[in-house]
Amino acid sequence: MSFEKANEILKEIEAAHPENADALEQFRIKYLGTKGVIKDLFGAMKNIAAEQRKDYGQLMNTLKVAAEQKHDTLKAQFSASSQSTKEKIDITAPAYTLNLGTRHPVSIIRHKMIEIFSRIGFTVAEGPEIEDDWHNFTALNTPEDHPARDMQDTFFLDEEKQRMLRSQTSTVQIRVMETQKPPIRIICPGRVYRNETISARAHCTFHQVEGLYIDTDVSFADLKQTMLYFAQEMFGKNVVVRFRPSFFPFTEPSAEMDISCFVCEGKGCPVCKQSGWVEIGGCGMVDPAVLENCKVDAEKYTGFAFGMGIERITMLKYRINDLRLFFENDVRFLKQFESAS
Ligand code: DAH
Repeated sequence: MSFEKANEILKEIEAAHPENADALEQFRIKYLGTKGVIKDLFGAMKNIAAEQRKDYGQLMNTLKVAAEQKHDTLKAQFSASSQSTKEKIDITAPAYTLNLGTRHPVSIIRHKMIEIFSRIGFTVAEGPEIEDDWHNFTALNTPEDHPARDMQDTFFLDEEKQRMLRSQTSTVQIRVMETQKPPIRIICPGRVYRNETISARAHCTFHQVEGLYIDTDVSFADLKQTMLYFAQEMFGKNVVVRFRPSFFPFTEPSAEMDISCFVCEGKGCPVCKQSGWVEIGGCGMVDPAVLENCKVDAEKYTGFAFGMGIERITMLKYRINDLRLFFENDVRFLKQFESAS
């Protein structure tokens, strides 16, 4: 082993052009491997005359550093370019499957309710969720200090309690009667708010569908037939309805509306709590005071109104026993209604 040989190898290293990762590995094994050329040259050190050893040692180092540097730089280059190759899009790879969302069960039932009522001439009306005292209470014959206000405690937006999140969709009745002339036949689906503790049966946010029909000669018989039509379209032809006397400030007379239990057909089961009947909403003949508040001639016109909770109808229809499920957005729950939408 001589200086000449070592210098020759140094040139060889400098001239080498490994073109890919495999060639680079060959280069590493050849020069830097445990049985490689450089190792051999180091081993030959003992044969070098003592006075030349220092120079030889330096040359060895130069060789080693040259080989290492070439190796390290190329390695970094190759691995960077191999990563960018990985990032290239493989157009032959199978596509990701995109999971389609499904309609929320409350939306499915809202649509179904709109569809049923539209078949008998009801159109959809909407109103704001932030309301004033007049539309949410006073015009609905529920003046300040009326005890019926207690049942509809909501979220107020000012100290004077003049602005609030609406506690019922009955507000839209007022807005429509203030701006349209009878005949009026509308339903008002929408979100409402109450200051309620959240439980399996109550929530501070929920949805209602309000109905209003104003014309000359509208009677309680029209109300009953309309509600019967709705109940049978929604729950099945065998369903019958019953009306229990009740109180709402904006209707007179007022009634609570039940349908015969469509699960057990009135025999008694857990859905109807063994009574054979399930409650689906409130209704009544619009109080003349409400008509007058909206400047509708109460001598000439009569009308009926009703209000139903959409969550309530949805729970009955799909036999869901906990209201909170609607708000949790657990896809395992929501996916079950896929085919229904
Ligand atoms: N607004 C009532 C409530 O939220 C529901 C209701 C009852 C609406 C009777 C009506 C009605 O239009 O006539 O409790």
